[in-house]
Amino acid sequence: MTPYRDVPSGAGLDGRAGLRGEAGVPSEQPGRTTEVGVSVRTVVLVKPDGVERGLTGVCLAAFEEAGLRLVGLKMLTLSPETAREFYRTHRDEPFFDGLVAYVSSGPVVAALFDGPDAVRRVREVIGATDPAQAAPGTLRALYGLSVQRNTVHGSDGEESARQEEAVLFGPC
Ligand code: RTP
Ligand code: MG
Repeated sequence: MTPYRDVPSGAGLDGRAGLRGEAGVPSEQPGRTTEVGVSVRTVVLVKPDGVERGLTGVCLAAFEEAGLRLVGLKMLTLSPETAREFYRTHRDEPFFDGLVAYVSSGPVVAALFDGPDAVRRVREVIGATDPAQAAPGTLRALYGLSVQRNTVHGSDGEESARQEEAVLFGPC
């Protein structure tokens, strides 16, 4: 991969998300192996509650404002089978069936964002799983309705990002 140099670093949601998105700053994520400053891709999903309420644009803009580059985009309605595949790491969780039913209940917008430390930076913009616990200014604090209807998904690691990209955008 080529080093990622041409996007302004440190941009954020007017500072609301508290991003530390400087190119070349090492991630605090344990076990991270990617070379510092090298661009990676991560998957964002604007979930059915976000699309239905007309929040797709404001959500995608937040990632661009954080200095990430949009490199893939599609709207689709997930089949229950695809939703199960997408969230397969949660298949043994008690909330799995409800999650699958919800995320396949209406159109979603899937996006790929690229940049240094993109996985962590996207998740900082999104905020904690429970909107009530999410940091002020994050997308889930601003727009999330509940733990399930929390508006936006972000990959939780580089391997899951690759797997999710394969599910939503086809083989890499
Ligand atoms: P996501 O994968 O959607 O970005 O969310 P996340 O990493 O913040 O949270 P995760 O643990 O991966 O959970 C995936 C989604 O499952 C639903 N969930 N419901 N206790 C519950 O009822 C519960 N816990 C999780 C949420 O929609 C969460 O985003
Ligand atoms: Mg997750």
